[in-house]
Amino acid sequence: MAEATFRDLEQAGWTERAGAYDDHFGSVTEGAIEPLLSMLGDDLAELHLLDVCAGTGHLAAAAAARGAVVKGIDFAATMVALAKANHPGLDFAEGDAQALDQGDGAFDAVTCCFGLLHLADAEAAIAEAQRVLKPGGRFAFAAWQGPKGHDLSALVLPAIEAHGTFDVDLPPAPPIFRFGKPEVCEEILTVAGFADVETQTLSLSWQTPEPEDVLTMIRRSTVRTAMILDRQSPEARERIDARILEDARARQGDDGITLTFPALLVAATKA
Ligand SMILES: C[S@@+](CC[C@H](N)C(=O)[O-])C[C@H]1O[C@@H](n2cnc3c(N)ncnc32)[C@H](O)[C@@H]1O
Repeated sequence: MAEATFRDLEQAGWTERAGAYDDHFGSVTEGAIEPLLSMLGDDLAELHLLDVCAGTGHLAAAAAARGAVVKGIDFAATMVALAKANHPGLDFAEGDAQALDQGDGAFDAVTCCFGLLHLADAEAAIAEAQRVLKPGGRFAFAAWQGPKGHDLSALVLPAIEAHGTFDVDLPPAPPIFRFGKPEVCEEILTVAGFADVETQTLSLSWQTPEPEDVLTMIRRSTVRTAMILDRQSPEARERIDARILEDARARQGDDGITLTFPALLVAATKA
C-alpha cells in the first residue's frame, strides 16, 4: 500500500476531530470571524462568498447573517456534515482548497480562516482563490503567529524537546507559522496576482478551569501536534504529558488557565 501523504493524514485527522473541534480550537478561531469579514468591506449584502477550509461552518454563517450568499467547502466529510447540521439552509460541500470545483470568476470574496497553514501546497490554494474570484474580488485569511507568544507551542514544544523527539515517522509538514508574517504574505499574494495587501493582528484566547483540559484540547482538536505526540514512546509520552500539565498548572490564576494565540488577518484584492 502507498505511504500516507501529509494530505491523507490531515484529512483523516480532521475527519476524526469534527465533533470535538468546536469545544476547543473552534471556539478560539470564532474570535477571528467578524474582524476577518470586516476586512472584506462594510457591506456584504449579496456578496458571493466562498469559504474554504470551512470547518464547522461558523464563518459562512456569520457572512450569511451579514447578507452574503455563501458556499463553504472542506475536505473532511464530517466537518461538512456538522456545518450543515449547525447551519441548515446554508450551502456546504466537500472540496479541496488546492483544487476547487468552482468556476473562474464565480465569487466576489474568498475566505480561509486558519486553513492555509494546514495545506501541503498553500500556493495552489491561493492560486485557486485567485482563479475563482472576479477581478476586484477580495481574498481574506487568518493564520497563527508564532511560535513566540503562541501558548500552545510554549507548552508543547519544550515538553517534546525535553522528553521526546520531533524525529517521528511522519511526512514533512509545511511550517505552521509561515503565514503569520506580514511580509511573507505580501510577497506570496503579490506573486499570485493580488494587490492592496492589508494585514491586522489579533490576540485570540482560550480559557479552562482544568489543566487536564489542555491535554484534551491537544488530543481532540489539533492534528499535526497530536500525531507527533502519538508517535512518541509510551514512557516519553507520559513524561511529555506530565510536563505539559505541570506548565499548565503553573499558569493557573483566579480565572483558570488562559492560553493566548496571536493571529494575523490578511486581505488582498484580485488585481
Ligand atoms: C483549523 S481548521 C479551521 C476550520 C475553520 N475555518 C475555523 O476557522 O475554525 C482547518 C480546516 O481545514 C480543513 N482542510 C484542511 N486541508 C484542506 C484541504 N486541502 N481542502 C479543504 N479543506 C481542508 C480541515 O478539514 C479543517 O476543517
